[in-house]
Amino acid sequence: MSELVTSIVLAAGAGTRMKSQRAKVLHELGGRSMVAHAIGAVRDAGADAVIAVIGHDRTQVADHIAAFDSSVSFVVQKEQNGTGHAVQVALDSLGPDVEGTILVTYADVPLLESATLVELLRQHDVSDRAVTILTAELNDPAGYGRIVRDAAGDVSAIVEHKDATTAELMIREVNSGIMALDSAFLRDALNRLDTDNSQGELYLTDVVAIAAAGNAGAGAYMIDDVSQTEGVNDRVQLARLAGELNRRTLDVWMRSGVTVVDPTSTWVDVDVRLGTDVTLLPGTQLLGATTVGEGATVGPDTTLRDVVVGAGATVIRTHGAESIIGARALVGPFAYLRPGTSLGAGAKIGTFVETKNATIGDGAKVPHLSYVGDAEIGEGTNIGAGTIFANFDGVSKHRTTVGKHARTGSDNVFVAPVVIGDGAYTAAGSVIRKDVPPGSLARNEAPQRNFADWVGQNRPDTEAARAAQDAEESSD
Ligand code: UD1
Ligand code: MG
Repeated sequence: MSELVTSIVLAAGAGTRMKSQRAKVLHELGGRSMVAHAIGAVRDAGADAVIAVIGHDRTQVADHIAAFDSSVSFVVQKEQNGTGHAVQVALDSLGPDVEGTILVTYADVPLLESATLVELLRQHDVSDRAVTILTAELNDPAGYGRIVRDAAGDVSAIVEHKDATTAELMIREVNSGIMALDSAFLRDALNRLDTDNSQGELYLTDVVAIAAAGNAGAGAYMIDDVSQTEGVNDRVQLARLAGELNRRTLDVWMRSGVTVVDPTSTWVDVDVRLGTDVTLLPGTQLLGATTVGEGATVGPDTTLRDVVVGAGATVIRTHGAESIIGARALVGPFAYLRPGTSLGAGAKIGTFVETKNATIGDGAKVPHLSYVGDAEIGEGTNIGAGTIFANFDGVSKHRTTVGKHARTGSDNVFVAPVVIGDGAYTAAGSVIRKDVPPGSLARNEAPQRNFADWVGQNRPDTEAARAAQDAEESSD
């Protein structure tokens, strides 16, 4: 790209059709807000500077954009007097010296790809036109601005749906809103806009007729991939484009060696990374910055957010967040990994197990029905079925440490803070309140008493009493 490119991302609109407490451009698809998708696309296309025009919910929107990309600058459009006004506010903030190409994009067109912008800029550059618009032919162009062409086929104007004649409404080529403009032309043309239209706004689209009439030249780059040009005004459109983005994401992963058994029930966010020969089973959602190592299998029915899954691991019917699963580890079915869980290589978290702030060593196992909170479990240790790490005294949380190669019995409670030494054993049903030295057996169950014939005396004429009677008779 020879010219300097300044990108203006329009994100000031109210988005009333979303019917939401949240700013429209902050609604998400593929794990990113719409405005983050828009900024990512212009940044990846190599824009030299990016300026976002914000208005509605501006603190919320500005904070969000700054967290996503700190190099973006902002300008506030206090009243939303139209897309032309928004661009004018941005251009004014850039000062009189701005030159080169202005690339205008919308924060509500989330599937736009950077490669498309690169081609738009290239065509704009070589054509020497004042304006080049990204357009597409839609089966249902309702709501969009229509591209009006003259007898020679050159673009002569954009007419908004609300201002269009019956003949113009038949036009299926629409304005995506994305355009490349010569900065000097734009500055001049914006000063010539008026609000003489059905919405009483300054339309950016009117600069196209100005360019065509003044022979500065207006042209279009029409793309076949219509989804890239589609805007989101309500939640129906959002869900449709979210589905389309997901299909595209999964296609890329399948082509790079990931098996997706059922793409219709599998959701993968755009920032997720997958190794080769990963298998995703039906009902799997991989969210946020989740990564899955080579040869691992995830699913069915598993949701992981910001989880690192090691190579060759198996994760079945699990819900996990902000956790690490080691190589070849086994998780589930029905496991709940809460933030701060770190599972070592070849380790196991089994059925109906909940973990939080827990480091579980290589080859260690928590196979059944347990809660492991604020714990350290050494390598090769086995935790018995039904164990509770009692980490909360009602006011504060405390840690439990279990050494390596320990064997703890079924139905234990470890009352933190407590330490169980390397190679120690604990008996079934124990409540461990005191440290257990390495190699010791801890046993604190109460002695068992049997009350003879209690059932016959207290529950006569029951199935239990008759069974006991039969047992007694047959042993006689
Ligand atoms: C706009 C275009 C239309 C195009 C369609 C594509 C105009 C006049 N119309 O219509 O030709 O087919 O997009 O989706 O440009 N915004 C501001 N400030 C404002 C007004 C809008 O920042 O004062 C922002 C919005 O936040 C949004 C974008 O500009 O990101 C487009 O605004 P919207 O109201 O959705 O325009 P459309 O009616 O969809
Ligand atoms: Mg719109």
